[in-house]
Amino acid sequence: MTYWTVAHHGPEAVPDLRAQLIDVHVDARSDLLDQDFYTAERFAQRLDAYVKDPTFALVTMTVDQVLVGYAFGGTLSASTRWWKGLRDATDPDLTRETGTRTFAFRELLVRKAHQRRGYAHALHDKLLAGRPEERATLLVRRDNPARELYLRWGWKVVGKVQPFPDSPVFDSMVLDLGIFRRRTD
Ligand SMILES: CC(C)(COP(=O)(O)OP(=O)(O)OC[C@H]1O[C@@H](n2cnc3c(N)ncnc32)[C@H](O)[C@@H]1OP(=O)(O)O)[C@@H](O)C(=O)NCCC(=O)NCCS
Repeated sequence: MTYWTVAHHGPEAVPDLRAQLIDVHVDARSDLLDQDFYTAERFAQRLDAYVKDPTFALVTMTVDQVLVGYAFGGTLSASTRWWKGLRDATDPDLTRETGTRTFAFRELLVRKAHQRRGYAHALHDKLLAGRPEERATLLVRRDNPARELYLRWGWKVVGKVQPFPDSPVFDSMVLDLGIFRRRTD
């Protein structure tokens, strides 16, 4: 019988999990590792930077004691650079940040051998349900099949952005976190 567990963690848990988190990236994104932005080293650098944020929140999925997937993010600060360079946005209120308004949904990864079992959807909902922010935001490549999943899960495309000089141009998406609150009303 498959035995799986989902667990919430703060930044203090990451030193012990770091090697496994990087392994999952290498496995899930094996087709992208030849691009500088997606190498294990660049991924680890970004992870280390995100973990310095005290609002960092991680949810892991473990199956038969192997970490098979995870999602993480953090609350955007009032002075965040998240929206810098955003193109094609129409709502003037979109980029207003208060320090409590928006959760940045930064990563969602599942090992290839464990995909298409609903684990990503479960991780997504576990990380976002119960968040105090009004909304969440994420970046996704236009050619990533995950983009279709996010659209099905209620996310809306709000513009385009290139956050790092060596990164692709991403679609910027927003999810109203009220959908989780309404579900439990
Ligand atoms: C994107 C990613 C996280 C999805 O992981 P996953 O665990 O396969 O996703 P899920 O199984 O939760 O859902 C994917 C879809 O697979 C299908 N699915 C789920 N279980 C299924 C099953 N048992 N049989 C057939 N299809 C199934 C469903 O269509 C589901 O969509 P739905 O939740 O709307 O019904 C994974 O492909 C990945 O790690 N990709 C590389 C990293 C990446 O691009 N991450 C996104 C960054 S923005």
